[in-house]
Amino acid sequence: MTGIYFSGTGNTKHCVEEFVHCFDVKNKSYSIEIPEIEKYLAEENIIVFGYPTYFSNAPKIVMDFIKNHNQIFAHKKVFIIVTMGLFSGDGAGCSARLLKKYGSEIIGGLHLQMPDCISDNKLLKTTPEQNRVLVSKANEKIHSAAKKMKEGNPPRDGLSFLHHLAGLFGQRLWFYGESISYKNKPIIDSKKCTLCGLCVKNCPMKNLDEKDGQLVHQKKCTLCYRCVNHCPAEALTILGKNVYQQYSIAFQSFH
Ligand SMILES: Cc1cc2nc3c(=O)[nH]c(=O)nc-3n(C[C@H](O)[C@H](O)[C@H](O)COP(=O)(O)O)c2cc1C
Repeated sequence: MTGIYFSGTGNTKHCVEEFVHCFDVKNKSYSIEIPEIEKYLAEENIIVFGYPTYFSNAPKIVMDFIKNHNQIFAHKKVFIIVTMGLFSGDGAGCSARLLKKYGSEIIGGLHLQMPDCISDNKLLKTTPEQNRVLVSKANEKIHSAAKKMKEGNPPRDGLSFLHHLAGLFGQRLWFYGESISYKNKPIIDSKKCTLCGLCVKNCPMKNLDEKDGQLVHQKKCTLCYRCVNHCPAEALTILGKNVYQQYSIAFQSFH
């Protein structure tokens, strides 16, 4: 078993690692951003695939990865993990339908509530203590899902027809364009930006760059919020206008 994930701010990485370790602490997990990913999956039979839900859809970077590497997924057993701030409807179903088309067998799905990463919106903001509780509840759900899978009865969150309807009518229809195309983002406050380069280094799309002493982007944002949450000067926003609370599980200790 090998874990793969896309994780803008660390939630999904944490959950995939925790899940695969329930089976064997030696199991490895990799980001889909690394160039060697095909090599790591070539010999693997069971893939645990994690991503965050964006507007009850799978992120563009994830759907593009599946389409561009479809040969990896043929004849593999795939267990899908989706993290969310509150609600994702058929979060796992979104990629499951595509993966099935490429010959994968979907062996289960797990939806996990984690801290919300949209740091430039006041909605769903939680204190560090509340975040700790959320992560600890997600850990419990992960352990119970792994136990059920070992017993031959893995959870199937997000994979039913009812989940499909909930995702479609709950959000996806109204926000469809938001997650399927590149965005003309982030918004850069050049008065605040110190050109430290952290966002340039970390952007999964290589969307950000320094040009003539200014931070610029190439309209290739896929909304992952990694730059917004990591910027020490709080100079970047995406959907909102102000940064209210930066969040990254990578900066915290939950164990
Ligand atoms: C653009 C965007 C859209 C999101 N849409 C939803 C949503 O529809 N429902 C939800 O519950 N959470 C939503 N979230 C919250 C994330 O799914 C959640 O915080 C996730 O755990 C982040 O995972 P990561 O740290 O691995 O990137 C959204 C986040 C972003 C950045």
